[in-house]
Amino acid sequence: MDWGLKNRLSRMIKPSTGRSVMLAVDHGYFMGPTHGLEVPRKTIAPLLPYCDALALTRGVLRQCVDASADVPILLRVSGGSSVLSEDLSHENITTSMEEAIRLNVAGVAMSVFVGSAHEHPTLVNLGKLVDEGERYGIPVVGITAVGKELQKRDARYLSLASRLCAEMGAHIIKTYYCEEGFDKVVEGCPAPIVVAGGPKFNSDKEALELASRAVELGAVGVDMGRNIWQSEHPVAMIRAIRAIVHDEATVKEALNVLEEGKRPNAPVVSSKAKAPRT
Ligand code: R5P
Repeated sequence: MDWGLKNRLSRMIKPSTGRSVMLAVDHGYFMGPTHGLEVPRKTIAPLLPYCDALALTRGVLRQCVDASADVPILLRVSGGSSVLSEDLSHENITTSMEEAIRLNVAGVAMSVFVGSAHEHPTLVNLGKLVDEGERYGIPVVGITAVGKELQKRDARYLSLASRLCAEMGAHIIKTYYCEEGFDKVVEGCPAPIVVAGGPKFNSDKEALELASRAVELGAVGVDMGRNIWQSEHPVAMIRAIRAIVHDEATVKEALNVLEEGKRPNAPVVSSKAKAPRT
């Protein structure tokens, strides 16, 4: 692995802990102005100091994030279908590597739809994206997308999809957590795994439990969206997630971080759970 690629990876996966809290705000690429992300700038700004990478599209990056922001960017480069489509797997590469370099990103991300009507082109596109990523030193995140078929998220499917992305050369795999057999998903995937949060749980506690179990079983962190910015207390929530991912906090300790964070003028709660950049 060349220096540039290693350097960009280490900006997203923190060498001090080997972990990462990525904040996903790319949902608009197929969902439009979904709840909590209607005005991306407002959602992103308070959370920015607490994420190790910000996952989004070039449109939201250019329009809603100040170019002076000191945050590694994980640029989504695939898209092409909307939530109105029957078949969400009909995605292609929508943003070039040249554009990614122009935007000074730390990594690029694309969805792969294993088992779907568009399995073949999405897998081949991932291979081509990795070729370009290796050429220019840009890490590639392969996302094991399931479209509307959320029930697909079991260990057998996730192991297959994650392994395929890793075999194609993706440097990080973004997949889902599953209750049964997540350790096997991690074991069978030679690239580091971050987990998405999925649709908002009924409680913040459930999302903290998901993050806790995922890292306990070998994920290097999360790339989480809705369970952070659809929470009633997004900043307190991302701090609590940081406590789990970077400080090995238990769910109980993370809940304390969450409660402390809900107070007005809440103090910074622990060394690594606090904002890395102030
Ligand atoms: C899908 O829109 C994106 O890949 C999201 O970034 C991913 O699903 C993570 O966001 P969430 O935690 O809301 O599932």
